[in-house]
Amino acid sequence: MEVLKKHHIECDGQHWQQEYKSTLGRFPTGVCLAVLEEGDDKIAITINSFSSVSLVPPIIQFSLKNHSRFLGKVRDARQFSVYFLARPQAEEALMFAKQPASPVSPQVLGDSAAAIHCRLEDTYQKGDHTMVFGEVKAVEHGRGDALAYYRSHFTSVEGYAS
Ligand SMILES: Cc1cc2nc3c(=O)[nH]c(=O)nc-3n(C[C@H](O)[C@H](O)[C@H](O)COP(=O)(O)O)c2cc1C
Repeated sequence: MEVLKKHHIECDGQHWQQEYKSTLGRFPTGVCLAVLEEGDDKIAITINSFSSVSLVPPIIQFSLKNHSRFLGKVRDARQFSVYFLARPQAEEALMFAKQPASPVSPQVLGDSAAAIHCRLEDTYQKGDHTMVFGEVKAVEHGRGDALAYYRSHFTSVEGYAS
């Protein structure tokens, strides 16, 4: 198992959680808002656990903490969207991490890099998180670069705007 020789930590000793998180942080991701309709509002939470699951049929997933209030709301709403935030939207990412499930403006959503609109397919609890699977009903994308997250910092993917 010891390949890299550096910071080898068994995930059952002391301090492993910090090293586990630090290791996961070495995988760069995009930054998204999971969004659903609640009354007249759209509410959002920041996520980076998004991934594509199936192309045909189109299915995506992201995971939420089991106790997340947003999870119950997704189950009630039965539909949701995932917006890939654009490079200048780090402040918005922080805001919907600090105040999850608060209303999001059409302007923030309109400035995002892309959107995936889903019907809730299923949820699956594993450990302290629950995976949310969505059957993709429609997609949209704009022209800007996406916001990225790497080693606990917001960053950018350069050079691919077209
Ligand atoms: C870049 C970034 C990515 C995040 N990704 C996720 C995620 O994928 N799943 C999740 O449950 N929370 C994620 N969070 C945290 C949530 O936005 C939110 O702060 C948290 O779920 C609220 O937890 P609480 O219910 O304990 O207050 C992320 C936060 C940041 C800043």
